[in-house]
Amino acid sequence: MRKPIIAGNWKMNNTIAATKALVTDLIPLVKGAKSEVVICTPYTDLATAAELVKGTNIHLGAENVHWAESGAFTGEISADMLVELGVEYVIIGHSERRQYFGETDETVNKRVKAALAKGLKPIICVGETLEQREKNRVKSVLKKQTIGAFQDVTEEDLANIVIAYEPVWAIGTGKTATAQDANDTIKIIRNQIAKLYNRKAANKLRIQYGGSMKPANAAELMAMKEIDGGLIGGASLKAADFAKIVKYYEA
Ligand code: PGA
Repeated sequence: MRKPIIAGNWKMNNTIAATKALVTDLIPLVKGAKSEVVICTPYTDLATAAELVKGTNIHLGAENVHWAESGAFTGEISADMLVELGVEYVIIGHSERRQYFGETDETVNKRVKAALAKGLKPIICVGETLEQREKNRVKSVLKKQTIGAFQDVTEEDLANIVIAYEPVWAIGTGKTATAQDANDTIKIIRNQIAKLYNRKAANKLRIQYGGSMKPANAAELMAMKEIDGGLIGGASLKAADFAKIVKYYEA
């Protein structure tokens, strides 16, 4: 049995003041949830969020991490810095990083290994663009991204990794992959993991869907066999909406 994991990706939203308000609202709403609850916040909000979620069922995540331990990397943040703040998860390879900040399969892999080495749990994002989907390249794109991200990652490490399948055309667009489509595509990723490791390991790995997931479609998506959770952008910025997704099984 894979425990469902619902993670909010706040992206570049929320000041410290907004973080205080949102997390304070969220805590009672997600209390007792059957799914694991994660909020991934901007670096500047992490310390505030860490303090607020102490003793609750909300886990804390960051949105990126650099691969070096320290050094001349202006503007970057290391795994040690995150760990010291009480961060547990870290999103790696989000399509916005790939699209706007030159993230490649190789840098994704470097970040994944650095995160794991310090005990952070990577949420590794993969997904195809609309153009790739239209050219029937979904399978080859996901294969390449998955092989790239998992280079030199051991089977033991898989217990601390979550994959987020996010079709790029569904992110922030209001367009969701159909539940069946999302399920079938996640199956492709799981089969790829089985090829890289083995079937048992693949069956244990949690794979989320992401892309315009909201209260209205969460239950349908989560009912699919292969979908183990969601990575939620827009709808994670409103406590009531995010809580409804976390408690999708009550719908
Ligand atoms: P969205 O974003 O829910 O706003 O589509 C998801 C994501 O980019 O992680």
